[in-house]
Amino acid sequence: MSSLANKHILLGVTGGIAAYKSADLIRRLQDLGAEVRVVMTAAAQEFITPLTLQALSGNPVHTTLLDPEAEAAMGHIQLARWADLVLVAPASADFMARLAQGKGDDLLTTVCLATAATLALAPAMNQGMWRNVSTQENLRLLQERNVRIFGPADGSQACGDIGPGRMLEPVQIAIAAASLFQPGSLAGRRVVITAGPTREAIDPVRYISNYSSGKMGYALAQAAVEAGAQTILISGPTHLPIPERATRIDVTSAQQMYDASLQQAAACDLFIGAAAVADYRPVTIAANKLKKTTNDSMTIELVKNPDIIAAVAALQPKPFTVGFAAESENLLAYARTKLQHKNLDLIIANNIATEGIGFDSDDNAVTLIDHNGEQALTQRSKQQLARDLISLLADRLPAQQ
Ligand code: C5P
Repeated sequence: MSSLANKHILLGVTGGIAAYKSADLIRRLQDLGAEVRVVMTAAAQEFITPLTLQALSGNPVHTTLLDPEAEAAMGHIQLARWADLVLVAPASADFMARLAQGKGDDLLTTVCLATAATLALAPAMNQGMWRNVSTQENLRLLQERNVRIFGPADGSQACGDIGPGRMLEPVQIAIAAASLFQPGSLAGRRVVITAGPTREAIDPVRYISNYSSGKMGYALAQAAVEAGAQTILISGPTHLPIPERATRIDVTSAQQMYDASLQQAAACDLFIGAAAVADYRPVTIAANKLKKTTNDSMTIELVKNPDIIAAVAALQPKPFTVGFAAESENLLAYARTKLQHKNLDLIIANNIATEGIGFDSDDNAVTLIDHNGEQALTQRSKQQLARDLISLLADRLPAQQ
């Protein structure tokens, strides 16, 4: 049952035809128990009057940053502190751009900069504007900063176009807002995630590794934290910042990742192997830098690394164990074989041969495969995909003992 009881929602309204729906949105938020205050941009007031939103919210509508009277009543910093959630609906392309740039050139952007509350946007714009690369880059930046994005929906638009960019219906936005306050789907759970590449030393200055950026594993760790899990990220070398409130254990080689994983996995509910573990390592690590010889070729003998996730899945009792299958051909068939051979509960298959997804890219598209069937998740940012995956995995976890 959705609830916003006792929650303070600061509703930001920006300039777009969907602003007429903000009136109904106030009602829907109030239906769930929220107290609503409204900030309107100058452009929003061209579409709907402050008086309408004032009458519905039962509070004066805030419109300017530099109005001494309004600032004396409740200034921008007080508004920022008052809010449990700043919800901008509709959020125009221009507003998203200004927010992404960190501008504080009107009351709404200033409140967004000042607030410690969660920030959520319900974008609404013409489909061409939504698809525009600048808007998409701004969207990605905002998502990376943990701004929640509700929608947009796909369908017919006020301008006559058909496509993505319609604002979600007010009732959907209100429910999405309420879901931000529900206890996380992984509350009380312990999640261990491996991420990034491993490095297999050849000598003191050389190693064998791969192009994994670690982005998917880090995004999963962030999403697990957001879902309330105690999150341990066992990471090979990456350049990524530690996800907030996750514990990171740094490792370099597959053997170190194996040792850390088995130590941590014994007491966890969910183990996700997102690391790109080197399959082989040199049999010996030379104590000194190998010197060039007169030979035109050289041979390094390799030995197989232990399979970390298979070892975790062999534990008794075992955590719910989720692997990745990054493949460039026969994706689903290879993934299914790995699911069986490694005794996993679920495998996430992604095609690294598809341009724009996988390994070092910011987006990914995957297929979830378990022993009952398959579910495809289309291309989206790794952050969004991680949240969607965590929510799907939380639903599949066995009930807590
Ligand atoms: O066998 P393959 O490397 O394709 O399997 C990929 C999955 O197995 C990933 O989840 C990866 O993190 C995990 N893996 C592992 N230890 C290895 C090799 C792969 O945990 N040595």
